Amino acid sequence: MSEKIGRRSFLEALGEFGMASAVLASFPWLQSCKTGKEQGITSEKVHLGIIGTGSRGQYHMTNILNFVPEGQIVALCDIYDVNLTAAAEMVPGAKLYDDYHKLLEDKSVDAVIVTTPLHLHYRVTLDAFEAGKDVFCEKAMAHSIADCYDMYQKGVRSGQIFFIGQQRLFDPKYLLAMEKVRSGEYGPVVNVRNYWLRNADWRRPVPSPELERQINWRLYREYSHGMMTELACHQLQNGSWALNMYPEKVTGSGSIIYWKDGREVYDNVAVIYTFPNGVNMTFESVISNKHFGMGEQILCKEATIDLPASRIYLETPPVKSGIEQMIADIEAGVFSNAVFAGTSWNAETASADTGLAIMPEAQGDGSVEIMQAFCRSVITRRQPEKILEEAYYASAFSLLGDEAMHRGEILTLPQEYRL
Ligand SMILES: NC(=O)c1ccc[n+]([C@@H]2O[C@H](COP(=O)([O-])OP(=O)(O)OC[C@H]3O[C@@H](n4cnc5c(N)ncnc54)[C@H](O)[C@@H]3O)[C@@H](O)[C@H]2O)c1
Repeated sequence: MSEKIGRRSFLEALGEFGMASAVLASFPWLQSCKTGKEQGITSEKVHLGIIGTGSRGQYHMTNILNFVPEGQIVALCDIYDVNLTAAAEMVPGAKLYDDYHKLLEDKSVDAVIVTTPLHLHYRVTLDAFEAGKDVFCEKAMAHSIADCYDMYQKGVRSGQIFFIGQQRLFDPKYLLAMEKVRSGEYGPVVNVRNYWLRNADWRRPVPSPELERQINWRLYREYSHGMMTELACHQLQNGSWALNMYPEKVTGSGSIIYWKDGREVYDNVAVIYTFPNGVNMTFESVISNKHFGMGEQILCKEATIDLPASRIYLETPPVKSGIEQMIADIEAGVFSNAVFAGTSWNAETASADTGLAIMPEAQGDGSVEIMQAFCRSVITRRQPEKILEEAYYASAFSLLGDEAMHRGEILTLPQEYRL
């Protein structure tokens, strides 16, 4: 969380770059980011119940307690007492439940945050709508495309406020960069590259063997689609934002190459999405090498945009003065230790240009901003425009990619699942 960006309003941060109105027009859900004061909110508070008080649930709780004055946590639910107790210590006085149906019956709860494992998102969210609650459900939306679609339709029909935890939708550095790409300033988008590399087994410690599947739900297909629903789901939005269209088809390959420990989800995936104009977007992930970390790059004819680093690299960089070059190197954390091939092989050598900062102070990933926006939307009763569509397609295409790998086929999203 950026202290600097967090303390002033989200749109003020974009406004400093002269981009607030352009970004708002392209990404209309950002209206919900206006400050409470700008939206006419005075002292109202949303009474929140957290369903699933594990890692992400507690992370949201920390953000709400520190940065979201419009949210008040009043109830907590978990079936695992270790996590419920840890969460209860963060909010003494909150009502505690071990059955989410009971929390949904609690009239003091206005809205729920669903941070359970993926396979439960659908049932819990639909039950919450039935109970008249607004819902913030974590990504991915659900365990199957059919369930995502049904959740989308029921969410819209319910008239409840409904967010999915795709926090990049509220990350100013991504939005500013995307607006620059969309302006055409850097020529057409020719490729989108996403990768997420880690070197760890993705396991959580299990105190007793019968809890293995409950705690390590991410590793089993009954509950999760592994890297596709946990990681790709965030990065696949990059293609549709940059190109303003959705992929036409997807194919890929996945396998378990290193962590052969009884898990069922892949530990190695490479997926290619192709857009109607022929542009490809890749997603690659392994969890047995982390050297290059996480990357998201929009390749345009005239520039490369590095989204997480918030930097832009022009294909023909302007000549920098010595001092400008030094500042750019310091900003990029890059010093003149780049390895060059011999002069006879320059053509394929990566550029040593250190690029330009897009949003120099940008930190955080939008998680605070999305929670602020949710609480403000609950108070104003205004569901942000297009936010659900974005989340739906991110989930649907991550699930379709997983299915393509499992079936070994090229797949398209069936017409019946297009919004
Ligand atoms: N947006 C993001 O960047 C982000 C990051 C991490 C996790 N997530 C998502 O958050 C969700 C939770 O992930 P996590 O890492 O916190 O998992 P976790 O296993 O740490 O927490 C899940 C909690 O849900 C509880 N639970 C299981 N069944 C339940 C039930 N029937 N009723 C109430 N509680 C129940 C578990 O006991 C556990 O405490 C997942 O959907 C995940 O994809 C999103």
